[in-house]
Amino acid sequence: MSKKSPKIGTVVKIEMSGNRYNAFDSDGNKLTSFIRTGTRKSAYKAGSALECREGKGGRIYWWKVPMENFGVVSHIPDAPSEVEVPDGHAEIVDFINTSYKLKPKGLVMKELKWKYLVRGAVRGKNLLMTGPAGCGKTMAAKSLVNAMDRPDFYFNLGATQDPRSTLIGNTHFDKKKGTYFSEALFVKAISTPNAVILLDELSRAHPDAWNILMTVLDEGQRYLRLDEADGSETINVAEGVTFVATANIGNEYTSTRVMDKALMDRFTIVEMDVLTDEEELGLLTYMFPHVNLDLLKSVSEIAHLTRVESKSDTGKLSTGISTRTSVELAGLLYDGFDLNEAAEVTAYPQFADDGGVDSERTYVKQLVQKYINDGSNEDLFNEEEMTDEEKENS
Ligand SMILES: Nc1ncnc2c1ncn2[C@@H]1O[C@H](COP(=O)(O)OP(=O)(O)OP(=O)(O)O)[C@@H](O)[C@H]1O
Ligand SMILES: [Mg+2]
Repeated sequence: MSKKSPKIGTVVKIEMSGNRYNAFDSDGNKLTSFIRTGTRKSAYKAGSALECREGKGGRIYWWKVPMENFGVVSHIPDAPSEVEVPDGHAEIVDFINTSYKLKPKGLVMKELKWKYLVRGAVRGKNLLMTGPAGCGKTMAAKSLVNAMDRPDFYFNLGATQDPRSTLIGNTHFDKKKGTYFSEALFVKAISTPNAVILLDELSRAHPDAWNILMTVLDEGQRYLRLDEADGSETINVAEGVTFVATANIGNEYTSTRVMDKALMDRFTIVEMDVLTDEEELGLLTYMFPHVNLDLLKSVSEIAHLTRVESKSDTGKLSTGISTRTSVELAGLLYDGFDLNEAAEVTAYPQFADDGGVDSERTYVKQLVQKYINDGSNEDLFNEEEMTDEEKENS
């Protein structure tokens, strides 16, 4: 039997077994213990169902309602939605085709990827944005949610310590009300038709959260069980609800080992591309038009070179400088820090300094140093002098 109080609006039917009047909801959950014997008996005699209601001061009581009310609250899957009709289809194709203009300027993402995202959301797919840290997964997911003009909900699963209370709710005790259940916002989210639900940092979520989400995300199930017990109350995911999750995992083959394979299988995976040096320079100049272009060029090239180095089999770096870090670095340049100072506080701490001169940090420091030397006017002048000398010599 479920330990949780039934939800307001629950309708039960009374059945006789032996000398007991048992109450069952339309999902077959036995709720006898929540209803006084006299109430159950009189409903049975009258051929009525009972509905759970809330009176003044939060008092819970059961009210006789016509038997026709029993079962109507349970979710009956709707007929195929209107998007299947050719007219709707043409509209959808048009919407997807012109959707690139809905992408915010500050988000760098290729048109195809963006349209693929929009298409997934329109088609009610569960989307999972993957990619390394700081490459724009959360930004893209939030931008998509904003572009959709549908009710949206945000959950950062990486930050929750207690998945049950975030995704399901809490059982409380109150002297007047007795034991009652307060639903999590997530329950409201999945019950909202056409909602777009952002599950940020799913890869960092507690495994309990993954387990709870298994049935929610499964195309054939789409329900949330309020209790682990079999036969406990379930909430159906409403029509048109779309999930957009992010996972901080590389685009490499090993990703499935980080996150449960069965959970990954429930998603359409959208790989976030790591920006090229040109794309990154474009972003930085868009964000910081007043910073010297050569400096921004240095930042984007340094970041790019660290990424290339981290990808190479013989590379000396385990990770590259992320776009997030590039943006932070450029922000410091804008505020008057020089490249060396900016790199020292943002980039260097991300690289291990054990191993002395062979450490990853030394490698990155030397790379930055190279740009500081190359970029200064003095050096440029010397180079010109040298070429003049060379010309004279030849
Ligand atoms: N593709 C991008 N276009 C524009 N800005 C970006 C992009 N990628 C990263 N950024 C910048 O980096 C910041 C961090 O991006 P975001 O939070 O989306 O990264 P993430 O991929 O979700 O990282 P994490 O894996 O750590 O959660 C953004 O606020 C933005 O300034
Ligand atoms: Mg993120």
